[in-house]
Amino acid sequence: MGAVIALTNQKGGVGKTTLAVNQAACLPDLRKNTDRRDLLIDTDIQANATFLISKETFGYRDTIGALFQETILESGRHLVHGTERENLFIVPSSPLMAAEEQRIPFRERRGERLSLFLKEVGDEFDIVLIDCPPALNIFVLNSFFAADSILVPMPPEELAVQGFEQLMGQIAAVRAVNPDLAFLGVVINMFTERILVQSEIRSFLEEQFGDRVLGLIHRSIILQEASASRTTVADYAPNSRAYEEYRRLAQRVASEYGLM
Ligand SMILES: Nc1ncnc2c1ncn2[C@@H]1O[C@H](COP(=O)(O)OP(=O)(O)OP(=O)(O)O)[C@@H](O)[C@H]1O
Ligand SMILES: [Mg+2]
Repeated sequence: MGAVIALTNQKGGVGKTTLAVNQAACLPDLRKNTDRRDLLIDTDIQANATFLISKETFGYRDTIGALFQETILESGRHLVHGTERENLFIVPSSPLMAAEEQRIPFRERRGERLSLFLKEVGDEFDIVLIDCPPALNIFVLNSFFAADSILVPMPPEELAVQGFEQLMGQIAAVRAVNPDLAFLGVVINMFTERILVQSEIRSFLEEQFGDRVLGLIHRSIILQEASASRTTVADYAPNSRAYEEYRRLAQRVASEYGLM
């Protein structure tokens, strides 16, 4: 199986989904002329990643929620949908999953459904990115069980630093579920150079995490504009610094797995 990376941070609005869709959208550009395929899995009932990467509307049975039905699906292959980007595929989410979520606690092997699904289709993809919700719910636990590493976007803010200990505790707890789960690193997101305190926190994060700071994404209006246009920077502004930053990050992540 290729790389399975959960993009996670229990704090909301830190840029998990923006990272997931933009990193995913850069992947096909990185290794042109190869037949490699990548997959984005949306585990958030907000379905923001699905909305940004696909123009289709999905019913509940098309989504990751279908993996959590009463019986374990014989095959989840039909949940892999194409996107407008060649070689990029998605397992979508939908707000319709909210109603089903309450029933999941009664399902057998509920913590392993995503992992079982990836055992079936994972070999077909080089990089699998899992966009997690800002929670520690059953979908996130499934993600931690199925992933081989976690990548944590984090704004350079005091509260993010306060969350540092919490983050380390979370990783320890996660390893109780999946001892092989690696901490791939953090991505400093929404960085503004001229704000002194942000530069200080950036230095602090670099001291704490060393070479596990895998990337830095500046705060950029282009990312909000791309989202408002329901697209990614790869399509919206391929000449922007934001695109270059996500591309560099995607490259770094791929090279961490020896895929570049
Ligand atoms: N580098 C950036 N510069 C400017 N805006 C950004 C940046 N990264 C993310 N945003 C914006 O911040 C908002 C929150 O981002 P996003 O939805 O990716 O966060 P999230 O962590 O996935 O949120 P949630 O926890 O709700 O899932 C969005 O409006 C997004 O466009
Ligand atoms: Mg999100």
